[in-house]
Amino acid sequence: MDIDRWSLVDGYIADKLIGGDPALESALAANCAAGLPAIDVSPAQGKMLHLLARLQGARRILEVGTLGGYSTIWLARALSPDGQLVSLELDPGHAEIARANLERAGVGDRVDVRVGQARILLKGMVDEGAEPFDLFFIDADKESSVDYLSYSLQLSRPGSLIIVDNVVREGRIVDPASDNPMVQGIRRLYDAIETTPGLSATAIQTVGAKGWDGFLMLLVGEE
Ligand code: SAH
Ligand code: DHB
Ligand code: MG
Repeated sequence: MDIDRWSLVDGYIADKLIGGDPALESALAANCAAGLPAIDVSPAQGKMLHLLARLQGARRILEVGTLGGYSTIWLARALSPDGQLVSLELDPGHAEIARANLERAGVGDRVDVRVGQARILLKGMVDEGAEPFDLFFIDADKESSVDYLSYSLQLSRPGSLIIVDNVVREGRIVDPASDNPMVQGIRRLYDAIETTPGLSATAIQTVGAKGWDGFLMLLVGEE
C-alpha cells in the first residue's frame, strides 16, 4: 500500500481533469464540521459516477446511502432538469446536512432525501409500483448489499445500470474466512450476482485518496 502516492495522483487527476468546485468543496467542509466520517467517494470517483449517469441518459436515479450528499451532488448534476434522484439515508442528522449541501449546490429541487432503513423504504417503493430507475448507486451498510440488489432489480428495467461501492475493501474480499461483516456482506453480493441470470457485471479495483477499494457495475437484462 502506498496511499500517499495514490493520493498525490488523485490530486493530479483532480487538478488536470476536474478543477475546483465551490459547491462540492463546501459540502465536504460542512460534512467535516458536522463530524461526518470522510467516507464519501473521491472527486475522481464522483466525476466517474457523473459521467456514467450522463452516458446512461439517466432521468431517474436511486442512491442508497446519502451521508452528506457528496456523491448525490455529482449524480444529480447529470440529470436533465426534469430528472429526479431519490437518496435513502438512515441517519436523520446525515440527511439534514445533505439537504443543506444539495441546496447550496443548486440541485435541491431534483433530489428527494428520504430518511429511514433503506430496506423498508425500498420495499415501500416496490409495493407502490414506483417507476423504474435508470441508475442505482448502492453505498450504504455493506451487510445488506444483497437485499439492496434485490430491491434495485425490482425497481429496474432492462438496461438499468447498478453501481455498488466498496466491493474490494483492500483486497480482503478474497478471504472466505474473513470475520468482517462488511466483507462477508459484499461476498454474498458477488455470490448473488453469480447465480442470478440476466445480469452482465464486472468490478474494477481502484486506488486513490480513499485507499484500495472498487466499484461493481451491473447492467440489467443482458447476458
Ligand atoms: N454515498 C455517500 C457515502 C455514503 S456512506 C458519498 O459517497 O458521498 C454510507 C451511508 O449509509 C451513511 O450515511 C450511513 O448512515 C448510511 N446507512 C447505513 N446503514 C443504512 C441503512 N440501513 N439504511 C439507509 N442508510 C444507511
Ligand atoms: C467505508 C467506506 C465507504 O465508502 C462506505 O461507503 C462505507 C464505509 C469505510 O471505509 O468504512
Ligand atoms: Mg462507499
